[in-house]
Amino acid sequence: MPPANKVHAQWSSRMGFVLAATGSAVGLGNIWKFPYMVGDSGGAAFVLVYLGCIFLIGLPILISEWLLGRRGQKNPINTMQELAAKNNRSQAWILVGFSGVLAAFLILSFYSVIGGWSLAYIKDAVVGSFTGQDGDGIGALFNGMLESPGKMIFWHTLFIAATIGIVSMGVTQGLERAAKTLMPALGILLVFLVLYGMTTGGFKQALEFMFKPDWSQLTGGVVLAALGHAFFTLSLGMGIMMAYGSYLGEDISLLQSARTVVIMDTVIALAAGLAIFPIVFANDLALGQGPGLIFVSLPVAFGNITAGWVVGVAFFCLLTFAAITSAISLLEPVVEFIEERTPFSRQVSTVVAGLAIWALGIAALLSFNVWSDFTILGLNIFNFLDTLTSKFLLPLTGLGVILFVAWCLDKESVRKELGLDVYDFSIWNLIARYVAPIGVLVVFFTSL
Ligand code: PFF
Repeated sequence: MPPANKVHAQWSSRMGFVLAATGSAVGLGNIWKFPYMVGDSGGAAFVLVYLGCIFLIGLPILISEWLLGRRGQKNPINTMQELAAKNNRSQAWILVGFSGVLAAFLILSFYSVIGGWSLAYIKDAVVGSFTGQDGDGIGALFNGMLESPGKMIFWHTLFIAATIGIVSMGVTQGLERAAKTLMPALGILLVFLVLYGMTTGGFKQALEFMFKPDWSQLTGGVVLAALGHAFFTLSLGMGIMMAYGSYLGEDISLLQSARTVVIMDTVIALAAGLAIFPIVFANDLALGQGPGLIFVSLPVAFGNITAGWVVGVAFFCLLTFAAITSAISLLEPVVEFIEERTPFSRQVSTVVAGLAIWALGIAALLSFNVWSDFTILGLNIFNFLDTLTSKFLLPLTGLGVILFVAWCLDKESVRKELGLDVYDFSIWNLIARYVAPIGVLVVFFTSL
């Protein structure tokens, strides 16, 4: 992503824009986080609420972030400042921009830890550590990594260094080009793993677990988790999509682009679930084991199919790539923030931001071992960072965005910008003014 606020470049085409937005949206959230949240939250009831949150809340907020970005033509903080002034609204709306930057900073610290796990698994796949292993063997391998702070620090450092390197060299455009081939490759590999899942004997159970709801599993906490994840997976509530929107030409349809990004993001998450749960059921692995789920299930497949190590290497390379494209989009707003508010150059700002995130990431990874007893509000550091961002900062920032678009901007201009007729706009208005904001507030307060 080119730095906002400088001369304003534009996406060369709708396709380029949609791919870049998809690159930010599709990442560890889809393949690592979504399946383990489904496992932790009891399955289909979570999935259905999540889908509801994606389409009724996430989609309109995604459109709103792009719309604000395109109007503001600046970075999120300056965009909010300027649009609030132009529309005679309070400058307090800038808080929306600030909380986005803070969320991006906190998320990247733990995102990088998981990116590090993915890197470590490339090495494991290369040296054949998965070969012939059953669920227990892979579980022992994974626990061996968790118990070793040194190993995790090494891989986390490598991941964040790669992210810093790419952002400071400003070569993200090349990565976007690479994404055009690598992201579809990841999709194809997932389809292949879903097909493998069908051969395990656990597929029917997996389908039922993911799509046949047991509503007794639905608690306020589960609904809040689904809502928070809808924001996380679509990269909402961090100003990132707003920054992407600022490079958007007037002729590009927000509604169509949003529909494409949301559908791709959702399909990849569901495919990840359908690849993982058959293995979980067929091997009697624990469903609710949290962040380790993908790292103890998929390698069982890689260890037991012909040439599985090659598939394993390919999978974790592609997962790492997807994680890096998302990590870059998380680092960018933090770097921009430092660059604008200090005398530091872009390179120095990138290193300062990266080092701070790296240090916080170390605290997060120690919560899997030596600091496992240290808690904040009953949560270890990793879970605290995840909860604070996904369940609080992102939904509240997203709420601010949609309230601003629905209530503070001139309605007629929004209708024209969305290309809606009067009838369709009344539906948009109903969703943007009431359904989405009330949805966020109700979920938020009932689960507190
Ligand atoms: N949406 C990414 C994922 O699902 O992995 C995570 C993410 C990337 C969140 C970039 C926020 C963001 F700005």
